[in-house]
Amino acid sequence: VNAVDSEPCPENFKYIPDTCVTSPLTVDKDITHLQHCSCTDDCSSSTCICGQLSLRCWYDSDGRLPQDFCQWEPPVLFECNHACSCWRTCRNRVVQNGLRVRLQLFRTEKMGWGVRAMQDVPQGTFICEYVGEIIRDAEADRRENDSFLFTLDNKVGEVHCIDARLFGNIGRFINHLCEPNLMVVRVFTMHQDLRFPKIAFFSSKPIKAGDQIGIDYGENYWRVKSKYLSCQCGSVKCSVLTMFSQIKPIYKAAVLFQQTDAAVTHKSGSYSDCIL
Ligand SMILES: C[S@@+](CC[C@H](N)C(=O)[O-])C[C@H]1O[C@@H](n2cnc3c(N)ncnc32)[C@H](O)[C@@H]1O
Ligand SMILES: [Zn+2]
Ligand SMILES: [Zn+2]
Ligand SMILES: [Zn+2]
Ligand SMILES: [Zn+2]
Repeated sequence: VNAVDSEPCPENFKYIPDTCVTSPLTVDKDITHLQHCSCTDDCSSSTCICGQLSLRCWYDSDGRLPQDFCQWEPPVLFECNHACSCWRTCRNRVVQNGLRVRLQLFRTEKMGWGVRAMQDVPQGTFICEYVGEIIRDAEADRRENDSFLFTLDNKVGEVHCIDARLFGNIGRFINHLCEPNLMVVRVFTMHQDLRFPKIAFFSSKPIKAGDQIGIDYGENYWRVKSKYLSCQCGSVKCSVLTMFSQIKPIYKAAVLFQQTDAAVTHKSGSYSDCIL
């Protein structure tokens, strides 16, 4: 819905329900490579191999992540798959069941399009996946529009990105909020090729019907973008605004120190990109 301006509904991308590829990238979908469980219960016990791969099965009986799930460094989740001996209804399957929460695309005042919840959402609920086109890091560097890129950094070496500019789902419209109500969790469902986790958004706090949903795009994003884009999240705790109004004087002070104190020079170095 657009109650703000005359911008028509965005149609300059193709809606896809699942992440796709447009170049010869092979995702390892070999069923014999899947780690799987041999549970005969609902996979809620500590003996479930899939749960163990995720540290434990975090989902409760309503499919939600608990309060003690670490939001800042979430574990990677391995959901049960078609090689497991459990039922399709076991507890360790949430993201693979798809979108359950009612969401609405709406025109924001200052951030273009955004997404809001149409119902109250308890903390820990799966909201949606960030779907797009998987591309190599080098290809991402070549692309002019970097507004819809999500980096799949991993410990395996090769870096890929999900680009939702041309192909994507509702996830591509989720804005940055300095007080985010979503957290980002990497999840494996039907394959376990560690280079290509699904990017799943879960609520990190209770969300009220009508609230805009948003994630923290992270420091790297703002380090690049703050040169020509200022955060419009509107929060009193807007940290990108704070970065501009407070770090700048700190940085200036650090520069003064540089002449005498090499340690301060080193510390201030990490901020230099986003300030100057
Ligand atoms: C993934 S898109 C989100 C959807 C976008 N608002 C749209 O209309 O298509 C990311 C882009 O949205 C805008 N955006 C998102 N969060 C913002 C924020 N907090 N302040 C200003 N612009 C923001 C920026 O242009 C950013 O590059
Ligand atoms: Zn199991
Ligand atoms: Zn299971
Ligand atoms: Zn399993
Ligand atoms: Zn902000």
